[in-house]
Amino acid sequence: MVIIRVFDLHKSFSGKKVLDGLNLAIEEGETYVIIGRSGAGKSILLKHIIGLLLPDSGIIEVFGQNIVPLKEEDLCKIRERFGVVFQGSALFDSLTIAENVGFFLFEHTTLSYPKIINRVKEVLSLVGLENILNLYPASLSGGMRKRVALARAIITEPKVLFYDEPTTGIDPILKLEIDELIKNIGKRLGITSVVVTHDLVSAYHLADKIALLDGGKIIAEGLPSEIRKSKDPRVSQFVGG
Ligand SMILES: Nc1ncnc2c1ncn2[C@@H]1O[C@H](COP(=O)(O)OP(=O)(O)O)[C@@H](O)[C@H]1O
Ligand SMILES: [Mg+2]
Repeated sequence: MVIIRVFDLHKSFSGKKVLDGLNLAIEEGETYVIIGRSGAGKSILLKHIIGLLLPDSGIIEVFGQNIVPLKEEDLCKIRERFGVVFQGSALFDSLTIAENVGFFLFEHTTLSYPKIINRVKEVLSLVGLENILNLYPASLSGGMRKRVALARAIITEPKVLFYDEPTTGIDPILKLEIDELIKNIGKRLGITSVVVTHDLVSAYHLADKIALLDGGKIIAEGLPSEIRKSKDPRVSQFVGG
């Protein structure tokens, strides 16, 4: 079943076309990886799907509903079913790990403190972290911060998880671990994962399906093995075939 469908999406910034009639369809439960060179428009595309940017034209269907005409309060309801791991983790430096991970539950629910802390411990253990509740983000490594950001994203039991460049700026060995974690969390929790990255190695490692964004469109889509073998010169140029 298709959970996200984008149809003929257009977006320009001060006359410069970034998205130019883009189409895609993401199936429920899959890990869909959008690759493309830096500046191709990957983050911009992600922000449209999350409803943070309004397109010039086009349709963005999420859970069967076009979100483009929705008012902010209806968009918020949709966003509650999303988890987002932003580039660079975006943790609050002045909050402890427990406060960071439990942030949504502390702010938007009436759950008791012990209940929230239990849930925080549960999601931290899902990402392989223990005994760091009272630490601050500054004392963690980049890889651990990424895990904390992931724990924060899954605490609301989202249907779809979005990742923007999840392994950028992480050393190669940790990168492999984070790739593995993203893949496993998606499968274990039955979540649809949408990853944008310029890192081809990560993409091959993570993806059920790879989509190549170039010139404002998805110009190729397929299994990692299909993308790797593609005869399309625009694809082989990017994947170095
Ligand atoms: N708010 C903005 N205003 C104007 N141009 C923007 C804005 N955000 C992004 N762009 C431009 O859109 C293009 C795509 O950006 P982006 O989606 O961030 O690329 P990617 O994530 O693939 O590296 C870039 O050329 C960037 O300069
Ligand atoms: Mg980007």
